[in-house]
Amino acid sequence: MLSVKSEQEIELMREPCRIVKETLEYVGKHICAGMTTKEVDELVYKYITANGATPSSLGYCGYPASACVSVNEVVVHGIPGDRVIEDGDIVSVDITAEKNGFNGDAARTFMIGNVSEEKRRLVEVARECFFKAIEGLKAGTPLFDIGYAVQTHAESHGYGVVRALVGHGIGREMHEDPSVPNYGKKGTGMRLKAGMTICIEPMINMGTYKVIFDKRDGWTVTTADKKPSAHYENTVLIREDGVEILTL
Ligand code: MF3
Ligand code: CO
Ligand code: CO
Repeated sequence: MLSVKSEQEIELMREPCRIVKETLEYVGKHICAGMTTKEVDELVYKYITANGATPSSLGYCGYPASACVSVNEVVVHGIPGDRVIEDGDIVSVDITAEKNGFNGDAARTFMIGNVSEEKRRLVEVARECFFKAIEGLKAGTPLFDIGYAVQTHAESHGYGVVRALVGHGIGREMHEDPSVPNYGKKGTGMRLKAGMTICIEPMINMGTYKVIFDKRDGWTVTTADKKPSAHYENTVLIREDGVEILTL
């Protein structure tokens, strides 16, 4: 079930990926203190559908919204609702859109107003983890080199790397093989192939790597110690000589 995309399929995939990127830029321009997470979701729904795409999350395994909006101690899969975004919060917004029969998936962590130096650093390191992971990445690279790069960078700052959730392949389905962990041993795992499209998505915690799955809503993932967490994700195409980031 490991799909390598043809050039034609890659062309089709560019559009949903571009729409996801633009949606996140649009959210970045409008997100502010005083807004509810539901209002962020409305922005996302509006932008995606206005561009002729479909929010893949909506109805996915019963998920009730177009975006995952995860504030501070929420790691991922925050269900949009009445929570009011406050000055000093960090808010991860994760979006998947489908168009042309293909998906694009990306996430950013936005800093709202006056964010503490401690949280700023966390957000910046989560982003850096992604770029460390794609350094030198190309066809033939062992899969777990990605996780090794993420883990090494995050842990050098004393942060916890979430293990219970991983990146993934993407294409006609939002989640395809292979799983792309954010931890691992260098030089191990399958060799990446040209034409593979994968989501690399470090989830980095200020404290423990341990997370809790909310049993009531079935979705919300929070840090076990309630310390903040940051998420950064892009859809990446593997080429013979490097990578192309489709959602940047
Ligand atoms: N976008 C998420 C990912 O990166 C998946 C969200 S599924 C949902 O894999 F149903 F929670 F939206
Ligand atoms: Co995502
Ligand atoms: Co993803």
